[in-house]
Amino acid sequence: MAAKKRTLTTTSATARNPTTTTSATARNPTTTTSLPDPQIKPTKLPFIFKSSLLILIPYLYFLFFRQNHEIEYEIRRSILINALVSIIGFLITVTLIPVASKYVLRRNLYGRDINKKGTPKGDVKVPESLGIVVGIVFLVVAILFQYFNLTADSNWLVEYNAALASICFMFLLGFVDDVLDLPWRVKLVLPSIAALPLLMAYAGHTTIIIPKPLVPYIGLEILDLGWIYKLYMWLLAIFCTNSINIHAGINGLEVGQTVVIASAVLIHNIMQIGASTDPEYQQAHVFSIYLVQPLLATSLALLSYNWYPSSVFVGDTYTYFAGMTLAVVGILGHFSETLLIFFAPQVLNFLLSVPQLAGIIPCPRHRLPKFDPQTGLLTGTKDGTVVNVTLRIFGRKSEPALCIILLLLQAACCCFCFLLRWILTGWYK
Ligand code: UD1
Ligand code: MG
Repeated sequence: MAAKKRTLTTTSATARNPTTTTSATARNPTTTTSLPDPQIKPTKLPFIFKSSLLILIPYLYFLFFRQNHEIEYEIRRSILINALVSIIGFLITVTLIPVASKYVLRRNLYGRDINKKGTPKGDVKVPESLGIVVGIVFLVVAILFQYFNLTADSNWLVEYNAALASICFMFLLGFVDDVLDLPWRVKLVLPSIAALPLLMAYAGHTTIIIPKPLVPYIGLEILDLGWIYKLYMWLLAIFCTNSINIHAGINGLEVGQTVVIASAVLIHNIMQIGASTDPEYQQAHVFSIYLVQPLLATSLALLSYNWYPSSVFVGDTYTYFAGMTLAVVGILGHFSETLLIFFAPQVLNFLLSVPQLAGIIPCPRHRLPKFDPQTGLLTGTKDGTVVNVTLRIFGRKSEPALCIILLLLQAACCCFCFLLRWILTGWYK
């Protein structure tokens, strides 16, 4: 976080103890009067509720009505319990974000809004790393939910907890990155460490179904990849995590893309449960829903603060956590190919970024568009990102308009994936 200021270098007891002095003066020796805490309110909640209907309507439709096979009562019940716990998680997240904002500001964990530089809003200290609230609430919801559903002898218990360990590890390393501001190449490696609990505990199958058109050439319908499958899982976790983090920097984009992908994953899961009668296949998708519903609920709560103009930033704590959670649900739900199509803009962003990430072209600390304080519009720069390319194609845009275009692109890729699956069903696999 280049924009982050960590002004306090003093080690005095008074400076460390907020009870003995007001936070602003304690952390900035040049400030003589204490500043009031900024007002952090979920002002975009009505917009979030309306947007959620776009997801909820098709989801509930598939959950209750339109299915090839009736969804079992037990499965539907557990999904609904999980949804209820997730809604409680949403409410807790909305309540806790302003509280946590005060604490992170007191520790000088804040950023400047780069796309508002040169305007009064660009000088505001925006609390950073509010992904900590989302991560904590998510983990509590996911851990408590086991009480309602997974019995002690459940086969899923080991993998479920290994998944949570990986998500928790990633969440921790994301927060470490936010606090220590690690060098870029170290950041890239963090997800490879966090994915280890899942890889070590994974006892599921390591086979892939060969696409039907390729079966005559390979001579097999199912291929056991063994350790190569685990290597693939590992690379997928590293990719998903970093790819969300580098498709960022516009108010609402980090959380917005997660919300769109998580919604697509949710709808995909519920469609697959209804389309199959194989209990193991169904269970894989139910398992994925158990993690995606809380992710979606808590992310929507964060979005109500992070949408333009952001009153909080999510930090790498959130981007890493969200990327790892999506990777985990894709891996354990056994739909990683579908997940990669949902991630199409992130794949494109990664490909565009390769020359800068590999050091072939110089990579600045922030690869963001150029903001013009006179017009309030953003112009694409030469940095290789989807954000910049979109601006170069569509012309100068305001920050919220750009974010909406990028999220629509994300949603279009998800719809394309559903269409592709529908066209290829029966022919491809
Ligand atoms: C990644 C990107 C970087 C991009 C940054 C934005 C690469 C290699 N790195 O770096 O190009 O600039 O994410 O998150 O592609 N910020 C805003 N507005 C927002 C969100 C963030 O101005 O809506 C700024 C704030 O100053 C905030 C900072 O970005 O403090 C956070 O950056 P950080 O997440 O630390 O950047 P990276 O993940 O290292
Ligand atoms: Mg980041």
